[in-house]
Amino acid sequence: MAIYGNSTGTLTQASLLHPENLREIRQGLIGWPRRISSRYFYDDRGSELFREITELDEYYLTGCEFEILNSNARRIADHVLGRTEAGKAAGPTDARTISILEAGPGDGSKAQIIAREFASLSDSVSYGAIDISPEALSIALLKISEDPGLPTYSVVGDTLHSLRDLTNQSTGRRLFLFLGSNIGNYTYDGAVQLLTVIRRALEPGDFILIGFDLEKPAEVLIPAYSDSRGVTREFNLNLLRRMNRELGANFDISAFEHEAHYNAEAGAMQSFLVSQCQQRVTIEAMNLDLLFEQEEAIHTENSHKFTLHGIERMAAESGFAPVEHLSDLRKYFATSLWQVPVG
Ligand code: AVI
Repeated sequence: MAIYGNSTGTLTQASLLHPENLREIRQGLIGWPRRISSRYFYDDRGSELFREITELDEYYLTGCEFEILNSNARRIADHVLGRTEAGKAAGPTDARTISILEAGPGDGSKAQIIAREFASLSDSVSYGAIDISPEALSIALLKISEDPGLPTYSVVGDTLHSLRDLTNQSTGRRLFLFLGSNIGNYTYDGAVQLLTVIRRALEPGDFILIGFDLEKPAEVLIPAYSDSRGVTREFNLNLLRRMNRELGANFDISAFEHEAHYNAEAGAMQSFLVSQCQQRVTIEAMNLDLLFEQEEAIHTENSHKFTLHGIERMAAESGFAPVEHLSDLRKYFATSLWQVPVG
């Protein structure tokens, strides 16, 4: 049997060769319209390209979220430490011991803003993170352990299946961070399912802070997902490079093009890889031959955009009580604080 990719014998959930992933990718590619989940963007190169995207002016989301966190870290801490009505209502939990938890921490610089604030207000604060990439975790944990110098711990795995391994290590009141509009890459039902899993792993009175990209005109959205330097184009095409390397596929990268469209009905920016000619592609690891017509597309990503009303509905459907929506000056982004209801 041919061995593809850099497999060392153990297939993590992040590997395309993991049987569940192989099955999902195959189903998506033979179905109509063809699709591949955006979960598979993030190999090392994909993660690096995404980091470059977050530095583009056109990709306004990251700058907006930093603006919100920098301006509101104290306000968030006040809620969690029980210094506001919402915090006081949280009940008997020792609100001086704080566990900051995070799913998908990136390089940890957003959590660092929050962690610094808590560290200045309490001497019993820790930070724990979960991610499928051990490399990503070590970068984030190093950052927080250096500044503000918190004790840290981590779990390698995906949030849906391994979250309790993280929450079991936490004490006191928890603040769970789910930032970066990652929630926008889920279907509505998938988002509610994930948030329900998170809520069940927390205790009454605990908090979650979630990033949501807000609805806005297509003139702002489209350049964010089809930037002038072509970084997002590379990010999308990297999925084909990844399949060539890890699955023994023979996608001709020059024969596909990146397209991003706003789908008003879905309330989402949608990314596609569009075949530029009629062509055949073979994926050896799946024993699969595909015929692409000219202009035939593979749908690779949904990036949902939200209204405050939609955010509140999602909170309610996943069993949380919204506490406060924090926004940037342009009202492009909302970082929303929710609480696990008490009693
Ligand atoms: C990770 N995620 C929130 C990004 C987004 O905006 O949907 C991924 C991305 N796709 C294209 N540009 C950035």
